[in-house]
Amino acid sequence: MSDGEQRPDCCFDDWARSESRRARRVGADGVTTALLDALARVGLTGRSVLDVGAGAGTLVLGALERGAARGTGLDLGAGAVEAARTLAADRGFGARARFEVADGAVVALPASDLVTLNRVICCYPDPNALVTNTLAAAGRGYAFVLPRSTGLPGLINRAVLSLGNVWFRARPRVYGGYRAFVHDIGPIHDRVVAAGFDRVHTAHPGLIWHLAVYTRAEATT
Ligand SMILES: C[S@@+](CC[C@H](N)C(=O)[O-])C[C@H]1O[C@@H](n2cnc3c(N)ncnc32)[C@H](O)[C@@H]1O
Repeated sequence: MSDGEQRPDCCFDDWARSESRRARRVGADGVTTALLDALARVGLTGRSVLDVGAGAGTLVLGALERGAARGTGLDLGAGAVEAARTLAADRGFGARARFEVADGAVVALPASDLVTLNRVICCYPDPNALVTNTLAAAGRGYAFVLPRSTGLPGLINRAVLSLGNVWFRARPRVYGGYRAFVHDIGPIHDRVVAAGFDRVHTAHPGLIWHLAVYTRAEATT
């Protein structure tokens, strides 16, 4: 992240708390469920999962429910981590799920079979740092969801996020300088491929999101 850009650690604790309430009522949201379904096709059983920007932890817990051996969730927000720990304990996953406060673009990450970033790259100003650091931890698979950046959906996403950023800027005490980003997906894809991964699945849940799953070229099971 360059000087002057603020860490986006401002306003997601409320999102995580509301996701946690929703997960208790009806389970994970549609985008997270689509990502979990795609990861299950690649193979979750017995795998370790690292979810960066884990929010309320619904992806980690969903992966454990689908057979993952253990899951780690990292988030910038202490409130999000607290919500995820509580949800994990309530669901009886205390020992297999770990949630910590950390900046996934900066800290040394635990090597994991599958690394996921679900609607996180768009909350961070430096996609290169975040993707490079998280790719280094990915053994078998890597997956992300972020707003579509090209065509009509890209234009719509840019317009909507620009308006959102006006709102965030107008409320600095609440949002602390947070901005949302429509980062170009092409260079992110190229970076993942350059690290030795093949794209095995793409989808557009809710029409506005781009979901992509990659596996290492040599991974067979
Ligand atoms: C839009 S929320 C998505 C949460 C969750 N992945 C989901 O889809 O429900 C984005 C989350 O990413 C976290 N985040 C953003 N940049 C991060 C980073 N560099 N390291 C760790 N967490 C980050 C934020 O704190 C926030 O909780």
